Amino acid sequence: MMRAALVTVFSYIVMFHQAAAYWLMGANNVITTQRIDPVVYPGVVSSHVHAVLGGSNFGLNVSTSSLRQSECTSIPIVEDKSNYWYPQLYFQWSNGTFTSVSGSAVIYYLFADAPGNTTAFPEDFKMVSGDPNLRTLNASSFAQQAVTFLCLDFNGKSSRYNELPSNRCPSGIRSQINFPSCWDGKNTDSPDHMSHVSFLSTGPDNGTCSDPNFPKTLPRIFLEVYWVTQFFDNFRNQAMTPKQPFVFANGDPTGYGYHADFANGWEAGILERAVDECNCNPYGDPTCCAAKQIFTIDQSKKCFISNTFDEITMGTLATLPGNNPVQDTCYEDFVDPVTPPVLSPVFVYNGTGLTPSGTVATPARTASVSQTAQGSCVRNAGFRSFRPLYSSGIVGIIFLAFGGSIMNLYI
Ligand SMILES: *[C@@H]1O[C@H](CO)[C@@H](O)[C@H](O)[C@H]1NC(C)=O
Ligand SMILES: *[C@@H]1O[C@H](CO)[C@@H](O)[C@H](O)[C@H]1NC(C)=O
Ligand SMILES: *[C@@H]1O[C@H](CO)[C@@H](O)[C@H](O)[C@H]1NC(C)=O
Ligand SMILES: *[C@@H]1O[C@H](CO)[C@@H](O)[C@H](O)[C@H]1NC(C)=O
Ligand SMILES: *[C@@H]1O[C@H](CO)[C@@H](O)[C@H](O)[C@H]1NC(C)=O
Ligand SMILES: *[C@@H]1O[C@H](CO)[C@@H](O)[C@H](O)[C@H]1NC(C)=O
Repeated sequence: MMRAALVTVFSYIVMFHQAAAYWLMGANNVITTQRIDPVVYPGVVSSHVHAVLGGSNFGLNVSTSSLRQSECTSIPIVEDKSNYWYPQLYFQWSNGTFTSVSGSAVIYYLFADAPGNTTAFPEDFKMVSGDPNLRTLNASSFAQQAVTFLCLDFNGKSSRYNELPSNRCPSGIRSQINFPSCWDGKNTDSPDHMSHVSFLSTGPDNGTCSDPNFPKTLPRIFLEVYWVTQFFDNFRNQAMTPKQPFVFANGDPTGYGYHADFANGWEAGILERAVDECNCNPYGDPTCCAAKQIFTIDQSKKCFISNTFDEITMGTLATLPGNNPVQDTCYEDFVDPVTPPVLSPVFVYNGTGLTPSGTVATPARTASVSQTAQGSCVRNAGFRSFRPLYSSGIVGIIFLAFGGSIMNLYI
C-alpha cells in the first residue's frame, strides 16, 4: 500500500504539468459493495454494482445534510462524509462465472494555489464522470480522456491506456478518473448529472474554467482505484477471454464505460478553508493541513454498512448482479426483471464489533422486461443460460455476518 502510494505521487507529477496545490488520501476501506446509486437511481435498485467510499449514511437517497450525520466515514479526513462510488471489477471464468477483484482507492483534491480562487462544493452538490453505456473510444472527448488505466509494474515500466490493458500487469491495474471541475455556479445537479459542470478548457486535468457558462472553479477530484488483478494472472488460461479476462459490474470488458459518482457530504465550512489554506506540502501529504487544524486525519478507522439489498455481490457469482450481460464493442439497453429483497435495518459497524444481521423488509419483485441485450454486443452469448443466484434471506444473513472481511478473501 505504501509502495502504491509512492508510485501514485510519482506518476502524477510526471503526467501533469499544471502547477496546482493538492492533497491525496488513501481511503481506509470500501464501506459497501452493492447495486445502489443514489444519484442516477435514487430510491431504487441500481442496474449494476458499485464499490462505495465515504460516509456511513450512504443509501438509496442521500443529501448533504443526511451525509453530515454519518456515524463514520472511510475517508481518512474525518470531516469528509461525502460518498464516492465506482463500478466493481470482476474476473470472468471460462464456465461463465465471475469472481470479484479486490480494490482500494486513493482520492486527490486539486485546487488553485491562490486562496479564494477555488469554490468549495455547494450543499447537495452531486455529479457523475464517465458513461456506463460506452464501449468505444472517442479520443477527442474530454469526458473519455478523463478515464484512464495504468498497467502497473513496480519493478519495470507502468503504462497508461484508455481501456483495460490486454497484457498482464505484474503489480495490478489502476483505474483512474478525473471529475469535471468547472461549475455553472447555479445548479447542484442536472438531469444527466453532468451538464451543470464541465471539464477544464484544455483537458480533464489541464487548463482553466474559461467558459463563461461554467465560470466557477471547483476542487478537481481525481479518483484512483488499485485493483489486485495480478492475483488472477495464474488463472488466465481458465478465463472466458484469457487476453483480457476482467469485466466491470456494468458488463463492460473494455473500460470505456468506467465511471464514478460524487455526492457532497463535507462538514460545513471545512472544504472552503481547505482549498484556501491546505497548500503546505508539494507532494500532496495533508498532514500539515491537519497540523494547521484545517481538518482531522484518522487513517486507522474502518467504517462499514450492512446491505440494503439481499444480494451477494462479492466472491464467485453465476452472473453479474442485475444479470448484466457482458457487452463488447457496442451497448444495448438491458433491464433486469428482478428486484432483490430489501433488508432492514441497515447497520453501521467497524468490522470488529457488531455482527450485523437484517431481516427481509420487502420481498423480491419481478417486473416485465423492457428490453434485452442481444445481437452482436453480447460477448459469449452461449453462456448466458446460467441462471442468476437470487439469494434467499438466509444466504443474505450469512453474507452480512461475514461483513467487511469478505473483501479480503481474494487478496
Ligand atoms: C497541458 O498539458 C500539456 C501536455 O501534458 C502541457 O504541455 C501543457 O503545458 C498543459 N497546459 C496547461 C495549461 O497546464
Ligand atoms: C428517494 O428519491 C426518489 C427520487 O427522488 C423518491 O421517489 C423516493 O421517494 C425517495 N426515497 C426515500 C426513501 O426518500
Ligand atoms: C466455474 O469455474 C470456477 C473456477 O474454476 C469455479 O470456482 C466454479 O465453481 C465453476 N462454476 C460452475 C457453475 O461450474
Ligand atoms: C486567481 O484569480 C485571479 C482573478 O481571477 C487571477 O488573476 C489569478 O491568476 C488566479 N490565480 C491563480 C493561481 O489561479
Ligand atoms: C467525439 O467527441 C467530440 C468532442 O466532444 C465531439 O465533438 C464529437 O462529436 C464526438 N464524436 C462522435 C463520433 O461522437
Ligand atoms: C470498533 O468498535 C468497537 C466498539 O465500538 C471499539 O471498541 C473498537 O475500538 C473499534 N475498532 C476500531 C478499529 O475502530
